[in-house]
Amino acid sequence: MNRIRIDRQPEVSRRKPTLLSILSGKGGVGKTVIAYNLAERTSALGLSTLLIDVDVTCGNLHILANVGTDVGLFEYLQGEKTLAESVITVSPKLSLLSSRGDMFELDEALSMKLITKLRNEAIAYDVIILDHPSGRSKATPILAYGSDLNLLTVIPELTSISDAYGLFRHLMAHDASLDCQLLINRAQDMEEADFLKKRFIAMCEQFASHTITCAGVLLEDKAIRRSVAAQRAASQINSQSKVVQSLTRLVRRLFSLPTEPKVRRATFPEQRINETVATADIRE
Ligand SMILES: Nc1ncnc2c1ncn2[C@@H]1O[C@H](COP(=O)(O)OP(=O)(O)O)[C@@H](O)[C@H]1O
Ligand SMILES: [Mg+2]
Repeated sequence: MNRIRIDRQPEVSRRKPTLLSILSGKGGVGKTVIAYNLAERTSALGLSTLLIDVDVTCGNLHILANVGTDVGLFEYLQGEKTLAESVITVSPKLSLLSSRGDMFELDEALSMKLITKLRNEAIAYDVIILDHPSGRSKATPILAYGSDLNLLTVIPELTSISDAYGLFRHLMAHDASLDCQLLINRAQDMEEADFLKKRFIAMCEQFASHTITCAGVLLEDKAIRRSVAAQRAASQINSQSKVVQSLTRLVRRLFSLPTEPKVRRATFPEQRINETVATADIRE
């Protein structure tokens, strides 16, 4: 097997954005909705975010974001347009570099070119999120090695677990120093997520001799399906939904953002007075 190497920190003095890849062994596990909603969360928390659809044949981030596709990744890679000319503004801090079913192949050379271009030209962004195609495309290892963090998405289904494990081994065989963490999606509850997490970690240690940690858990949530149907972010459908809260926590942890101050119990004088009265009432 050819070892593909890419310098994760090429000689770019102005290096800034954190490059995050969302990948999976099996399709339909939620990569695209996670990439979109994660990007919405990073941007909502003040990080200037570039979301890129590297699933060039089946790209559908533009559908989720409900934006046009006059320009995108193809024009950017061809050098026809600059990055600023190629992106579509989704919201003030969120830009999308889309693939609208572009019939070109993102091969090794183009993937390498993309990483190098981004490292040099996307310095205005704090975060870049790549939504990968499923499985082992030619682009997968190059883009994964070019990323600072890879989130391997898995759902509690045997085939998803098996394919995720296959992809993890494949990536580790190329470069064991790769930062790849598990992201559990569509778990029914934390018990199911915990069971999957422990099994997956044990499997990787026993058979692949590699340690993997778990970045986070997203539960099955109606807000996701409703948001896809409405072509909106889950936070716009239900900002209090479990999935939005989990994504917010994940972003805060990944980017070391301060946690939201806890809503303190009201300690207004009126309440103190009421409490005193209540206690007095009981004593009586
Ligand atoms: N946490 C979740 N809760 C409920 N439905 C989900 C969740 N994650 C994904 N889905 C559903 O799975 C579908 C497929 O997700 P998608 O992001 O297109 O997968 P992938 O990009 O991995 O092929 C979504 O349209 C959505 O309906
Ligand atoms: Mg997808």
